[in-house]
Amino acid sequence: MASETDDLLRRLTGLQEDAEKAVAAADGSKSLEAVRVRFLGRKSELTSILRGLKDLSPEARGAVGKAGNLAKSGIEEAIRAKAVTFDRVGRVSGDDPTLPGIRPPRGHRHLIAATLDHLIDVFRGMGFSVARGPDVEDDYHNFEALNMPEDHPARDMQDTFFLAPRTLLRTHTSPVQIRVMESAPPPIRKVFPGRVYRRETPDATHSSEFHQLELLYVDRGVTMRDLKGALGYFARQVFGSETRVRFRPSYFPFVEPGAEVDISCFQCRGKGCRLCGNSGWIEILGAGMVHPSVFRHVGYDPDEVSGYAAGLGIERIAMLRHGVPDIRMFYENDLRFLTQF
Ligand code: PHE
Repeated sequence: MASETDDLLRRLTGLQEDAEKAVAAADGSKSLEAVRVRFLGRKSELTSILRGLKDLSPEARGAVGKAGNLAKSGIEEAIRAKAVTFDRVGRVSGDDPTLPGIRPPRGHRHLIAATLDHLIDVFRGMGFSVARGPDVEDDYHNFEALNMPEDHPARDMQDTFFLAPRTLLRTHTSPVQIRVMESAPPPIRKVFPGRVYRRETPDATHSSEFHQLELLYVDRGVTMRDLKGALGYFARQVFGSETRVRFRPSYFPFVEPGAEVDISCFQCRGKGCRLCGNSGWIEILGAGMVHPSVFRHVGYDPDEVSGYAAGLGIERIAMLRHGVPDIRMFYENDLRFLTQF
């Protein structure tokens, strides 16, 4: 009985010694893995000793169990210590200076930034330049000057993050229209990219932070035809040369007339599919002719000049173009998502 226990204990000591020698001799992660399988694997001697514990007498079981677990963790530790001496391709570090180096992973632009750049490029081609405004806005620029008086429903607390009574996170890029017109006389032909904020419950198509690109063109004699022409060109550049645009009458306080603009579905070419909800059309932006009251707020004479404005959601365009099913994917910074673009 006692000799059987001694025998097992000796075998365990021997096993650990053999394993440590084999670990020391391993010259790469492949051979190290073979050592692991041989000494710790399911068919290893150590495993069979541990499995046989249940057949031993209680006191032999205690002694052999303890020694077996010690041997096991000793071997595991030796393997761990050896593994860190290999490089990422599993070879001994510094072993062969002629091996090619390992290229460090390289980042690239986020899909939202790339989409914004692309859209800005398209409008640059039409003579627009870029201007920016602050994310933290005042009531006047975000609402009042845009023809949303004190009691307008769009000013409802539910939609807006207030930082102080008359200070807020802008809910759209339209306040930049006001800032740009306040600081320069017409003509204006600019785009305003930026982040906007709304009190939304996040879901697949809503986020409390997202990005917009605003368009503003003001000059003598600008008409709705100019707007249609510019948006048609934009749609063909971004969604393909077959794309058509459709204007539907809509209401935004700062434009008159106002429209919601659809593009013909680029997936089914207007026949009707899941992407366009079988309608053949996809809503893509809001637009309209700048309201005379907006011009009056910035000191432009609405009898002298006219203009159009439009606001595009960047995430929405990126989701459509790249088949991204959930807006939240843009902000999770999961490399498995980001590296696809
Ligand atoms: N600012 C509007 C929005 O965020 C979009 C828009 C811009 C509509 C310009 C008309 C003209 O919903």
